[in-house]
Amino acid sequence: MPDDTDTGDIDTGDIDGTDTNETVWKSDHMVASWVAAEGERERRRAGQRRLMAELLAFDDDDAFTFIDLGAGTGAAAKVVLDHFPKATAVLAEYSAQMTAEGRRALATYGARFRYVELDLAAGDWPAAVPTGVDAVISSLCVHHLPDERKRALFAQIWEHLAPGGWYLNYDPVSTDDPVVEAAWLRAGDRQDPAAAAARAHRSAEEQLRHENHVRYMIPLEPQLAFLREAGFEGIDVYWKQLDYVIYGGRRPPAPAP
Ligand SMILES: C[S@@+](CC[C@H](N)C(=O)[O-])C[C@H]1O[C@@H](n2cnc3c(N)ncnc32)[C@H](O)[C@@H]1O
Repeated sequence: MPDDTDTGDIDTGDIDGTDTNETVWKSDHMVASWVAAEGERERRRAGQRRLMAELLAFDDDDAFTFIDLGAGTGAAAKVVLDHFPKATAVLAEYSAQMTAEGRRALATYGARFRYVELDLAAGDWPAAVPTGVDAVISSLCVHHLPDERKRALFAQIWEHLAPGGWYLNYDPVSTDDPVVEAAWLRAGDRQDPAAAAARAHRSAEEQLRHENHVRYMIPLEPQLAFLREAGFEGIDVYWKQLDYVIYGGRRPPAPAP
């Protein structure tokens, strides 16, 4: 698997190899460093952010509510809010630090957004997360969840969507095929030679951090299977470049009366 060539994430491990995802996202220092690099990252992935909005099945002036899961500072939600001026966002996060940064970043959207506290790795969703929402999006966070949580999450999303509502996820994936992995690395390294050099000279600590970062990353196909199992239709990989994808589907509309 290529290293974080798209820097979709920051490494989330510590030197004893334990999963420190939660510690990282709830750390002032790590969140500050994430936010400091956000402008540059967002410039590079502007096309993917825009496509997520374009894929949503609304007219530009429709009023609707969507949830952004693991919303962070709201980078994905912001693009949807910009594209659909009457949309309202519910940003679900478990990190107080990311939430505080997001509230600042989105302040100009006023009443068009609110944060709710939600741990995607936990079981039931709190009542503050609305049901019957018109769309759900997530980006760069589902890969932080163990497989059983990914599967349960997709079922929870389905349950919280109104009939006909779409779910879209932008995330990195892994591959079991060494030929594919080599191709991803080859192209990724040509696009970003600095990433190749960094990978070749990882310290033991950096290696452990990398291993932790990819701990729950899985191939695309099982994730699509989880969507099918949850009951989604119209499932597709709507965008893909090397190890980054946008996939999704919709909850089937209610049958006509
Ligand atoms: C790489 S950032 C992505 C943030 C945002 N979605 C974006 O695209 O810019 C990952 C986000 O997922 C959140 N996250 C990770 N694990 C989570 C969990 N178990 N429950 C809720 N949020 C989680 C982190 O706090 C962080 O804000």
